[in-house]
Amino acid sequence: MPPVRREDALFQWFEKINGPSWGDVLDAGTGDHSLGWVGTLPARSVTAVTVEAWRMNSLREVAPKARVLLGQWTDPALLFGESFDQVLVDYVIGAIDGHAPFFQYDYLERLRPHVRGRVYLVGLEPQPRDGSVLDEVCRMRDACILLAGHRCYREYPRAIVTKWLERAGYRIVDAKDFPNRIGARFVNGQLDVALRKTKLLRDDALRVTMVAAIEELRARALDQGDVTWGADYCIAAEGG
Ligand SMILES: C[S@@+](CC[C@H](N)C(=O)[O-])C[C@H]1O[C@@H](n2cnc3c(N)ncnc32)[C@H](O)[C@@H]1O
Repeated sequence: MPPVRREDALFQWFEKINGPSWGDVLDAGTGDHSLGWVGTLPARSVTAVTVEAWRMNSLREVAPKARVLLGQWTDPALLFGESFDQVLVDYVIGAIDGHAPFFQYDYLERLRPHVRGRVYLVGLEPQPRDGSVLDEVCRMRDACILLAGHRCYREYPRAIVTKWLERAGYRIVDAKDFPNRIGARFVNGQLDVALRKTKLLRDDALRVTMVAAIEELRARALDQGDVTWGADYCIAAEGG
């Protein structure tokens, strides 16, 4: 699950290495944050893809001139025959398992024919399994997602995603890590997900126990204040 982000720093890094010419841009796993940025670029056209219908209304409001498509990347017909100058892959790798299990291994290859210029990829390093209270927060979130019968986000390290890009024929242009500063917004965001999932538990006693455990953990995690924990990474790769 993406952390509270500093999109300015990540997107500014892409703007710096891209220069002023954007051409036709594809946001290949869109959301309000990424489309909010892409919509401000001096692009010839903006196309954005999501597989989640619930996002559509707000995406159309965020960037009224963009072409926003509801589609599934496992479908060969999606954007068949179309290519783009720049393709943004913003927190998509970790989300794919929830929508098309195991397709993350083929996703960058699937995108390749659509990339005339570069891929700009944002990823989240897997959460450190360090026994910290934030580690507990993430494990609690995932436990509740699994108990509800849903699939968790699955993040991959920069080194693995770099290999996938290279194997799919991209040439790495540049890459950078962005350590995450984590505080109340992240803690509440992750534990609110956990809380929502407990509503799907059929066992009343288990639900009561989990809700109490979530709130006890929330108090401990909020108590520690802001810390630097985990990292995002950006990769720029040439596909054309
Ligand atoms: C975590 S969200 C990305 C967040 C977004 N870039 C933002 O503004 O922060 C992941 C996006 O990728 C899309 N996605 C994930 N798997 C997909 C798939 N198999 N086909 C199409 N879209 C997919 C989701 O629907 C969602 O729009």
